[in-house]
Amino acid sequence: AITVDPGARGAAIDDTMYGVFFEDINRAADGGLYAELVQNRSFEYSTADNSSYTPLTAWTPDGTAEVVDDDGRLNDRNRNYLSLGAGSSVTNSGYNTGIRVEKGKRYDFSVWARAESGTTLTVTLKDTAGTLANARQVAAKGGWRKYTATFTATRTSNRGRLAVATTAPAALDMVSLFPRETYKSQPNGLRKDLAEKIEALNPGFLRFPGGCLVNTGSMEDYSEASGWQRKRAYQWKGTIGPVEERATNANFWGYNQSYGLGYYEYFRFAEDIGAMPLPVVPALVTGCGQNKAVDDEALLKRHIQDTLDLIEFANGPATSKWGRVRAEMGHSKPFGLTHIGVGNEENLPREFFARFQQFRAAIEAKYPDITVISNSGPDDSGTTFDTAWQLNREGGVDMVDEHYYNSPQWFLQNNDRYDSYDRTGPKVFLGEYASQGNAWKNALSEAAYMTGLERNADVVKLASYAPLLANEDYVQWRPDLIWFNNRASWNSANYEVQKLFMNNTGDRVVPSKATGTPEVSGPITGAVGLSTWATSAAYDDVKVTSADGTALLADDFSGDASKWTHTGAGAWTVQDGRYVQTDAAAENTMVTAGDPAWKDYDLQVKATKKSGK
Ligand code: AHR
Repeated sequence: AITVDPGARGAAIDDTMYGVFFEDINRAADGGLYAELVQNRSFEYSTADNSSYTPLTAWTPDGTAEVVDDDGRLNDRNRNYLSLGAGSSVTNSGYNTGIRVEKGKRYDFSVWARAESGTTLTVTLKDTAGTLANARQVAAKGGWRKYTATFTATRTSNRGRLAVATTAPAALDMVSLFPRETYKSQPNGLRKDLAEKIEALNPGFLRFPGGCLVNTGSMEDYSEASGWQRKRAYQWKGTIGPVEERATNANFWGYNQSYGLGYYEYFRFAEDIGAMPLPVVPALVTGCGQNKAVDDEALLKRHIQDTLDLIEFANGPATSKWGRVRAEMGHSKPFGLTHIGVGNEENLPREFFARFQQFRAAIEAKYPDITVISNSGPDDSGTTFDTAWQLNREGGVDMVDEHYYNSPQWFLQNNDRYDSYDRTGPKVFLGEYASQGNAWKNALSEAAYMTGLERNADVVKLASYAPLLANEDYVQWRPDLIWFNNRASWNSANYEVQKLFMNNTGDRVVPSKATGTPEVSGPITGAVGLSTWATSAAYDDVKVTSADGTALLADDFSGDASKWTHTGAGAWTVQDGRYVQTDAAAENTMVTAGDPAWKDYDLQVKATKKSGK
């Protein structure tokens, strides 16, 4: 029986409790959420990003084409440009199989070009079967200028190519093609299907932009002082302003990132999906295998000042220095930043905490209402974790970011993790977690675990699954919540769990107890039933069925989720993050929403108590 005491008041659950962590990994930004269709649009790809790159990666020249880095450049941050000879052309292959265009839809082309008056640039969209839109011609007017043109696709294709040809010598940079249709029709906007999938989660917050890409590299800027060299350092100031003036960078995950999706766009996206923005800045201690404390007082001071400037960029009036930059970009109203993360996963807790304290002191002195979130290192337990927590506790930190990736069994067995956390200590931001897989058992183990988070909502204030996005052709990390390629996107089973919880966040926990129940059954609409059987070794013969009684999963449940088996017809496999029943004729193919074979299941769970327990 489940005993619920309606009079008892459990912890209040914040509306912001469940959120998303957008990390630029698996090409989540360029070739993903950022709607730009041209790859390597500013010819900045370099072996510093990836040993297989050249400045012409994703481009095929025909005739004379050379990437140049000299004084004739567009601007100091955008170093390279393409020098194209008379009668020559260059063709871009986009991401995945190519540039995706849909019949009847409009696509906005733009290019920065320097060419003598009288030069004509011809722009074409085509695939191997022929043209995809009427060609456009642009008449150059001398000097560096931006030229635009619009295409309407006459056919649908996943293999489009964009070509630019010139009649006379021309310098090209920022060759761009955007779908007219972006999420909420924002300029320099986001890919609609992906943004809408994230919006449908109804996230309470948006943590960004990483992850390891935040706290790795030299921490030095791509700046005049450093000879305009890439330093593999992600810094927010390099990601704002006109896109042609944003530097590109070597992403920790082995590709070039354009910063087209920058801090302005992140804040705007958070606002558009109704989520609290939660940026993360580096604390001058590297993590993710680099594990180095950067000892440079001047650099530390600059990073602290950059963090104060970031808060002003988000919240300052349009008359303030950085508030004005935001207003000039199109958002005079402040974004309402309330939380900021300092550090990601630092393996050197003492070195990290010494620097964290300096960040916190400076932020609290100027912005006392901002919650400054600290970190607990890369693991969920062990000496580093204990030391980090001790320092955070003794230092009176408001909130600590924890990360862990574990087996489904771990999630089932650790439902009570936060029951014993100190109620008077720092609150928890579970900034990254996932059970290791995109299978049903993983999703269910996460659902079970989330009931434990919710039960401890007085301690666990924020929680986000990680990572959020993966382009199926450029994967550095799996599992991931949402998968995509250049033409489609699909949700994982884990996504459905996150969506369920985010869209049904209660106001308050109602304490309940399960005792001596011979059988628990019911639809999986809440987490109570799930956690009761999933976390208890007292039940066996657990079955998950569709409403019509079709068996989907069953288990001789012993607390070991790896023993879960599928009992429906056909075999189950995981293909690119989709749960596919290989017997195509079978009714209960568990693919994901958006795929043609998707079928919505009204799932039922039934568990029988083990005899003698
Ligand atoms: O989410 C993938 C990676 O996991 C993150 O970049 C890092 O913070 C963690 O190790």
